[in-house]
Amino acid sequence: MKSKIVIGNWKMNKDFEEAEDLISSIEEKLENYNLATEVVLCPPMVYAELVTDHASQDDSQFYAGVQNVSEYENGAYTGEVSAEMLASMDVSFCIIGHSERRKYFGETNAIVLKKMLRLLANDIVPVMCCGESLDERKAGKHFDVVRQQIEETLYTLTPEQMENVMIAYEPIWAIGTGETATPAQAQEMLAYIRSLIEKKFGTQMAVDTYILYGGSCNAKNALELFSQPDVDGGLIGGASLKPDDFIKIIEAAETVVKDN
Ligand code: 13P
Repeated sequence: MKSKIVIGNWKMNKDFEEAEDLISSIEEKLENYNLATEVVLCPPMVYAELVTDHASQDDSQFYAGVQNVSEYENGAYTGEVSAEMLASMDVSFCIIGHSERRKYFGETNAIVLKKMLRLLANDIVPVMCCGESLDERKAGKHFDVVRQQIEETLYTLTPEQMENVMIAYEPIWAIGTGETATPAQAQEMLAYIRSLIEKKFGTQMAVDTYILYGGSCNAKNALELFSQPDVDGGLIGGASLKPDDFIKIIEAAETVVKDN
C-alpha cells in the first residue's frame, strides 16, 4: 500500500514564539516514531525558515511546506515570494488554490495554474486544493465544480509535470466548521477525482497520484477517513495547531498503512 501523507496547514495563526514551540513539540513527539507516513508542516510564510531548519536535520520526521507562492517569476512585485526563493530555502511543498485564497484573494484557476507551473519549475510539490461550496453541493453541482477546477489546471500539464502534483479535496462547507464530509462522501469525491486523472493521464498516474481529504479532519475521525480506499491522507487545519491531536492524526495514517 502507498504511504499516507498528513499536511498541517497552520493558516494565519501563531506568533513567532508559539510557532517555535509548536514545531519543537511536534518534533519531540515524533522522535520515537519510525514513520511510514510523510508529514508536512505549512506554517505562515514568515516562519518558513523555522520549519526548513528543522526539516533539514538528518533525523527529521517532517518536510517543510508553505501556504502560498507568487504566480510571478521575480522582479517588482512588492510583498510577493517567488517559487525560486522557496526552493533556495529547501521548501518542499506548497499549498495552492485553497478555497480561502480563492475567496479572499481572488485566486482563480488561471492563477492557480500559473503558481503550479512556477512551483514545478522549481521542484516544489504543489498541493492543489479543490472543492465545492455548500450551495453548489445542495444544487448537486459538486462534481461539475471539482471537474472544472481539475480540467482548467491539471489537464494542461504534461505527464512529467503531473507526476509531481498532489491534490487535496476540501469541501468548503467542511472547512473550520466542525462538519466533516462523511467517509462515504470523501471517498465518492476522491474516487471521482481519481477517475478524472485516469481519463486524462491513464491508470498508472491515477493510482500513483496522491489525493488528500481536508475539512474538519481531526483526531477522532481521521482513522475512518484515511481507511477509505481513495483517501491518501489529510490536509489538516485547526487540528494541526494542537500537537497531541496532530500526532493522533498521524498515528491514524500509520495504523491504516500498517493494517494493509
Ligand atoms: P480545518 O481542518 O480547520 O477544517 O481546515 C481544513 C483546511 O482548510 C486545511 O487546508
